Amino acid sequence: MDNFTLTNKKQTDDDRGIQVDLSKDGLIPRHIAVIMDGNGRWAKSRGNIRLFGHKAGVDSVRDITEACAQLGVEYLTLYAFSTENWGRPMDEVTGLMQLLVQSLRSETKKLNENDIKLLTIGQLERFPESCQRELKEAISLTSGNKRLNLCLALSYSGRWDIIQAVKKLAHQVKEGKIDPDDINDELITSELVTADIPDPDLIIRTSGEFRISNFLLWQLAYSELYITNTYWPDFRRNELYEAIRSYQKRERRYGKTSDQLQRNV
Ligand code: FPP
Repeated sequence: MDNFTLTNKKQTDDDRGIQVDLSKDGLIPRHIAVIMDGNGRWAKSRGNIRLFGHKAGVDSVRDITEACAQLGVEYLTLYAFSTENWGRPMDEVTGLMQLLVQSLRSETKKLNENDIKLLTIGQLERFPESCQRELKEAISLTSGNKRLNLCLALSYSGRWDIIQAVKKLAHQVKEGKIDPDDINDELITSELVTADIPDPDLIIRTSGEFRISNFLLWQLAYSELYITNTYWPDFRRNELYEAIRSYQKRERRYGKTSDQLQRNV
C-alpha cells in the first residue's frame, strides 16, 4: 500500500494501521457505490444555502476516493447527479455543473499522480458543452491509470439504463441478430452502461434515507447495503471503514443456504 495523497494531508500512521487491519480482517469490496445524500440538509442546519453543502461534499469525495485507492478498492461509483436532479431549481443545477467543472480542473492532475482513472455513466449529452468538454478531457487524461476506477454517475438513473439496454436488444431482435428467447441475464447486463464494470459489492447511502432512488437498479441485485444517518459532507474515511467492517461480517449467500456456502457447493 503506497502512502499517497489526493489531499495535502499526509496519511497518519494510525490511518495506515486501520487500513492494514481492515485488509487482514476480511475481503475489501471490489466495487463500492455511494448515494451521496444530505448536502442540502447539512447546509441548512448551518443556516447556509444548498450549494454550500455540495461544495463541502467535494471534500468528502476527495477523502473517500483517496481511502478507496489506498485500500485497493477497484471501482468507486458516486451518484453525483441523477436524471431526476434535472428537476431541481435552475440555480442549484447550474451551481452543481460549475462545481463539477471546477473540481475536474483542480483534481485531474492529482488523479493522474495517484493512478486513478475517471469514468462516467449516464446521459452526458444532456450536460452543457463546456461541462462535457471538461469531462471528456479528464477522462482522456486519466485513461491509462490502473489503481482505482472512479466512476461518476451523471444524469444517470437505473430505469433509464435498463430502458436504453432494452431498446438496443429490441433493435437486435428486429434486425434478426438475436432471437427473443436468447435474452437472458448476461445479454441484458452486456447492454447496460455498466457492462464493463462489476456489480457493486457494497452500496453506501448517507443521510438516513432507506431507499435506492433509481440508482443501479439491475446491478445491485446482490449488493450489500450500508445506510448511515451521517450527511454526506460529514462522511469521511472513518465511517467508510465502519461500512467495510459491516460488509466483512455479512454472509453473501446469493440465494443459497449457509450450509451450501460452507461446503462450497
Ligand atoms: C444529494 O444531496 C447530493 C447531490 C444531488 C449532489 C452530489 C454532489 C456532490 C457531492 C458535489 C459534486 C460531486 C463531484 C463528484 C465533484 P441533496 O442535495 O439531495 O441533499 P438533501 O437531501 O439534504 O436535500
